[in-house]
Amino acid sequence: KHVSSGAGHVSHLNAVTLGESVAAEEVDFVIPSKDFAAQANIQSSEQYLEMYKRSIEDPAGFWSDIASEFYWKQRWGDKVWDENIDIRKGKIKIELGGHVFCFFDHLLQWFNGGITNISYNCLDRNIEAGLGDKIAIYWEGNEPGLDDSLTYSQLRDQVCQVANYLKDNGVKKGDAVIIYLPMLMELPITMLACARIGAIHSVVFAGFSAESLSQRIIDCKPKVIITCNAVKRGSKAIYLKDIVDAAINDSAQNGVSIDVSLVYENPVALKRVDTKWKEGRDIWWQDVIPRYPTTCPVEWVDAEDPLFLLYTSGSTGKPKGVVHTTGGYMVYTATTFKYAFDYKPSDIYWCTADCGWITGHSYVTYGPMLNGASVLVYEGAPNYPHAGRCWDIVDKYKVTTFYTAPTLVRSLMRDGDEYVTRSSRKSLRVLASVGEPINPSAWRWFYNVVGYSRCPISDTWWQTETGGFMITPLPGAWPQKPGSATFPFFGVQPVIVDEKGAELEGECSGYLCVKNSWPGAFRTLYGDHERYETTYFKPFAGYYFTGDGCRRDKDGYHWLTGRVDDVINVSGHRIGTAEVESALVSHPKCAEAAVVGVEHEVKGQGIYAFVTLVDGVPYSEELRKDLIVTVRKQIGAFAAPDKIHWAPGLPKTRSGKIMRRILRKVASRQFDELGDTSTLADPNVVNQLIELSDS
Ligand code: PRX
Repeated sequence: KHVSSGAGHVSHLNAVTLGESVAAEEVDFVIPSKDFAAQANIQSSEQYLEMYKRSIEDPAGFWSDIASEFYWKQRWGDKVWDENIDIRKGKIKIELGGHVFCFFDHLLQWFNGGITNISYNCLDRNIEAGLGDKIAIYWEGNEPGLDDSLTYSQLRDQVCQVANYLKDNGVKKGDAVIIYLPMLMELPITMLACARIGAIHSVVFAGFSAESLSQRIIDCKPKVIITCNAVKRGSKAIYLKDIVDAAINDSAQNGVSIDVSLVYENPVALKRVDTKWKEGRDIWWQDVIPRYPTTCPVEWVDAEDPLFLLYTSGSTGKPKGVVHTTGGYMVYTATTFKYAFDYKPSDIYWCTADCGWITGHSYVTYGPMLNGASVLVYEGAPNYPHAGRCWDIVDKYKVTTFYTAPTLVRSLMRDGDEYVTRSSRKSLRVLASVGEPINPSAWRWFYNVVGYSRCPISDTWWQTETGGFMITPLPGAWPQKPGSATFPFFGVQPVIVDEKGAELEGECSGYLCVKNSWPGAFRTLYGDHERYETTYFKPFAGYYFTGDGCRRDKDGYHWLTGRVDDVINVSGHRIGTAEVESALVSHPKCAEAAVVGVEHEVKGQGIYAFVTLVDGVPYSEELRKDLIVTVRKQIGAFAAPDKIHWAPGLPKTRSGKIMRRILRKVASRQFDELGDTSTLADPNVVNQLIELSDS
């Protein structure tokens, strides 16, 4: 039988079986211990290859078998999956709150005809299987000593109360609900409550500014917003409700009004009496939710009904509302969680990501809970009140699986080993990383110092759009190479193409695309299906284009090399250069701005902004600060430029296109490597930029 090239990429694995001695030139392999491999869910590269092969040759059979482990009110039809990339003739409608919001040309469906509910599968199914008294969520507050927990039964009770409240306030299947909460238990509770009644949640990371929030409100027109009055992160209080109030006012001016704002009272950060209030619209969570019944019938939804909308940055224009649907996402997040983290029912799992990002959707809430896992949710800052807090938490809860981002690893590494080594960490068995490439030195520190050189590291490569892991180690199944995300997950066929879209074989480097579909793939961009097709399916015909560069080495291992588009990855957060530029130019004294990413020791990439001021306006420290404040206000503190570089002019071609290639070189002080500047309209601007580079 024909095996597509996806399986070909990993065939070398036959030669790299566990326990075998590794050739001298391959000393960069880190081999999982025999003890670990012996207990792992996937114990060898052969076992992986066999399953992988089937997942590619028979995706329908492979995913159907897994999907059958979940509860379906009605089983899917004969066609387990259906994709139409090239033919472009499928016409399907998806409805949000009764309004048709897009027509599909690029059609992708998994488990079509199936009827299910993901909240039911996370809660009721597990409770019926005897997990009612198992802890679903351990919650650790920002202040040491403040904690809480919920069993699966208690979690379902609270989910039902919130679901009933939402229904009572007119939220129906297909309506959007915006959640703007910090990492309280109420955040996953609310997500699951929306899913229970078929409402579409859109979680907005609580670090986004009022303007960003209002942009999202205007786009998806939620029936209800759920927030809290304030939160403390580290020693700093953040007044979330003030931000929500400002966003609601702003959206009202743009014709979108919000009638209900449910506010969780977080007395540690702000007292009720000190919270600004609008009677009739604002309502305290604690005043209403406990009054609702703890049971709520499930709204059964189609496999292809939308589950959530999550906004993410692109290289141009406003943020994109990534739409994930129910059935495929459910099956995919559960399966990736189980295998990439070698999940065992006795695990205590901690993912440091916020539910405001995709990682918190797929791997704080849905993936773990579909497996009936005990999840730790931490409210605070990872280095508060000291740099050893993470390891105190690991010891307190006997965390077995610790999933974080390279930026945190690097910052803890900088704080010194003593903060780590004073803790026990004996409970740890799997470490994992996400958000950006993990540099080999950080990988080794994580592995040797944090994990006693015995915990495999799952470096999971994926995206908001992919729903779940795409390229990831399966701990125990094969040797790792520090810094490589290794091999594709079941059903995923990564291909590396050149600029013309030709598939490259063997050792190569180029643009990372994916051939064929996988169940967790997003289905559209909310309200802009054309952008979905243009951004992801047009650049390389017949493939999904990831926007990332990738190298495949002689052993078939994948090495992600970062974004190839105008997206910057700051501490694992995706920021579009266009968004930062448009915030900068909104300042009345800024005439033009061009933003590039520059290497940053801890954050991975930093934001470097070239700014041209309006004629006659002098440079000043005050103005520099003012520009940074403008970006913080419009996007959020995490998008604030690290550097403002005054630019009397920007390097442009004669047709007026900014040459970012040159700006990247100037930003990283590689003045000798500017390349050809002869096509610039005014080559002299480059000299001016170099002269001002230390200004
Ligand atoms: O560039 C890749 C990088 O993060 C991008 C996706 O960002 P976002 O949608 O915000 O999702 C982040 C969490 C999944 C990718 O295009 N990225 C993510 N994980 C890795 C990574 N780059 C290298 N290695 C990773 N493990």
